[in-house]
Amino acid sequence: MQTKTFVIVLAAAVTALSTAAQAASADHGKSLFIQKGCWECHGTQGQGAVTGPRLAPDPVPLEAISNFVRNSDGPMPPYRREILSDSDLADIYAYLQSVPQPVDPKATPLLQQWADKPK
Ligand code: HEC
Repeated sequence: MQTKTFVIVLAAAVTALSTAAQAASADHGKSLFIQKGCWECHGTQGQGAVTGPRLAPDPVPLEAISNFVRNSDGPMPPYRREILSDSDLADIYAYLQSVPQPVDPKATPLLQQWADKPK
């Protein structure tokens, strides 16, 4: 293979890899959400739990999340960069953004049937 061809093939491979890495960030964020313990207080989908408030769907902007997560001095422990890098936090954010909206009960025939029953 000529050097020029090799460089072009290599560039294409690097581009494909970095695109794959970007596409995988919500998946990686989901793993981190479990690994770093966020789920214990916020629920596995960030839906909120007894201890921590709801984070998703429709998370607040990443900058606000980052400011809070880095500096919390209340009931939530702060996660500094040494234990949660900016890129990992961005992946967690991608995961929170990927959490779907809950199903509308009005669009669910079975639930609608029960909603229409007299009390
Ligand atoms: C030990 C329980 C606990 C863990 C673990 C935890 N949180 Fe929290 N989190 C809380 C509580 C409690 C609050 C509300 C704190 C307050 O009002 O000061 C909070 C608040 C937040 C908020 C602000 C939400 C808002 O609307 O004000 C964000 C964002 C957040 N957590 C993200 C995370 C992320 C991301 C992780 C994992 C890296 C995490 N938390 C891990 C308990 C936790």
